[in-house]
Amino acid sequence: MEDKKTIIVTGGAGFIGSNFVYYMLKKYPFYRIVCLDALTYAGNLSTLKKAIKDHPDNFRFVKGDIRDAELVESLFVEEKPDIVVNFAAESHVDRSILDPQAFLQTNIMGPQVLMDACKKHNVERYHQVSTDEVYGDLPLDRPDLFFTENTNLHASSPYSASKASADLVVMAYHRTYGLPVSISRCSNNYGPYHFPEKLIPLMIINALNDKPLPVYGDGLNVRDWLYVEDHCKAIDMIIHGDCNGEVFNVGGHNEMANIDIVKLILKELGKPESLITFVEDRKGHDRRYAIDPSKIKRELGWEPETKFENGIVKTIQWYLDHKDWWEEIISGEYKNYYDKMYGEKK
Ligand code: NAD
Ligand code: DAU
Repeated sequence: MEDKKTIIVTGGAGFIGSNFVYYMLKKYPFYRIVCLDALTYAGNLSTLKKAIKDHPDNFRFVKGDIRDAELVESLFVEEKPDIVVNFAAESHVDRSILDPQAFLQTNIMGPQVLMDACKKHNVERYHQVSTDEVYGDLPLDRPDLFFTENTNLHASSPYSASKASADLVVMAYHRTYGLPVSISRCSNNYGPYHFPEKLIPLMIINALNDKPLPVYGDGLNVRDWLYVEDHCKAIDMIIHGDCNGEVFNVGGHNEMANIDIVKLILKELGKPESLITFVEDRKGHDRRYAIDPSKIKRELGWEPETKFENGIVKTIQWYLDHKDWWEEIISGEYKNYYDKMYGEKK
């Protein structure tokens, strides 16, 4: 007999959360997936259109804020979740530098509200989707160094500080109340439904529109890129594994300098490098991220499946095939953000 579960996925109308919803609906058609999302500027109901249409019986979308304790309580009473996976967050470093308040409120208080409900309703696991940014950064001239799960938390931006704070609160709920929890700290994701303000989609869209490609500082900052489905697979393994109280780093050893990614995108699209424009650096810009994923490989047998050279081609093709999705976004509130952000950078 199949073991049926109900999973509440918060932030499922965003980039990684929506990919996770589709991943889970496909892999576990007998599960019930309930998405709770406030539909901030970063959340898009159109992203979940197919889930709503194709899974009327085992997928439910609820618009709401994870900080709304009353709403969360009534959802838990109705749905009786077995597992909660929290993707909901303010996630963009640049926006956190412009205005940190929402980041501290959503990213710290939100998990607290969710965990209180998990505690009250004896949920079998609360999973916090965290980030490698909680570790701060590594120098460029020490390629031998990587983040492990024991690396000290050393956040740089208001965004990463809020995520590090949440991780501490999660582990405090585990120790103090015995709440069953797990945490994944993943490196940079890329793939379908990535919001246009982040590096890879921004560069694809600007290149397609023959607009300047704004590269911060010297362009040599390094990020460790993972195809989003591989992240979803890691979370699936953690929530189904014997992982109570555990933290897992997730990454595929795919470090690349920003400038190399930008040049690769231009080459794939047949656009000239003259579109590259170096602009003022991000304040407190982390130099290099690099994940050591040996724990999740060793303990859960997780391995990334998509190589970057294939994943980036698939991703570019996705943006070519889904112009309606991103054109709607860039014509809305996002345009005001873009003008404010890049209008000020010289
Ligand atoms: P995203 O910004 O694309 O999506 C966030 C989603 O959360 C949106 O749908 C938004 O509407 C929703 N949301 C925001 N505030 C909310 C609130 N108060 N209540 C309910 N819903 C709310 O983010 P993403 O890139 O998909 O990241 C998802 C999670 O993964 C975040 O926790 C982020 O810290 C983490 N993460 C992201 C990456 C990455 O490369 N994008 C890497 C590692 C970890
Ligand atoms: O490492 C995981 C993190 O990755 C997640 O926790 C965050 O939620 C996610 O947004 C991402 O953060 P980054 O700051 O690394 O991603 P972003 O796409 O904003 O930037 C990637 C790199 O590209 C970074 O070094 C800054 C640079 N950049 C970004 C933009 C938007 C540019 O040079 N120009 C740009 O216009």
